[in-house]
Amino acid sequence: MSIREKQVPVITVDGPSGSGKGTICQLLARELGWELLDSGALYRLTALAARHHGVALEDVEALEVLAAHLDVQFRPADEGQEMQIVLEGEEVTHAIRNERVGEDASVIAALGPVRAALLNRQRDFARAPGLVADGRDMGTVVFPSAELKIYLDASAEERAQRRYKQLISKEPGASLDDILNDIKARDARDMNRVVAPLKPAPDAVRLDTTRMSIEAVLQAVLDEARHRGLR
Ligand code: C5P
Repeated sequence: MSIREKQVPVITVDGPSGSGKGTICQLLARELGWELLDSGALYRLTALAARHHGVALEDVEALEVLAAHLDVQFRPADEGQEMQIVLEGEEVTHAIRNERVGEDASVIAALGPVRAALLNRQRDFARAPGLVADGRDMGTVVFPSAELKIYLDASAEERAQRRYKQLISKEPGASLDDILNDIKARDARDMNRVVAPLKPAPDAVRLDTTRMSIEAVLQAVLDEARHRGLR
């Protein structure tokens, strides 16, 4: 664990796809004025880099090298704008959100050497005044001594509905059944992998967001942060 991690307060938010982590983490980081780590983006970027360089998803050694040397910049967003992500000089902010890239990311995320190669890069995001870390293993592996650990969950059906609503404007042919099947497959892969499986840290605060609005979830997390003197 780096000295940096010990000095900077960290809030980790873990959970499955569609549990609302991404939105909550952005709002939380903005509200607190803290740094934000979207760790899923690093797995997605590695997957996209593999595609660009023609590296097969079975080639563990080449994937490890790619992950260790990812040439990526996260350009901070202006007020109300989305953060820009640049991979090897190319803007890929939207390209990495593609469903196929997400699938590939979840396959390579099961590989121990790839996870190890990304570990310090993730810890380097811990900068004053604090860090909000969004992912699957933020509270269990990457920031085990975080001041506050949140685990967000929701039923697979509700998460599929949320994803469908996001996608339908961009992909009119999107099918709710296909999305639900993809979500279940990704859950199974993320929860059953040997290295850093998706699970709540023993000391995590668990929130089922199935019937909660974004505002209610944000408020619940802010209340937990206040209890711990983090705001
Ligand atoms: O959160 P997002 O959907 O962007 O993550 C893409 C994939 O990356 C996930 O399905 C998961 O397999 C992997 N991931 C991970 N550990 C993290 C973040 C993401 O294994 N901390």
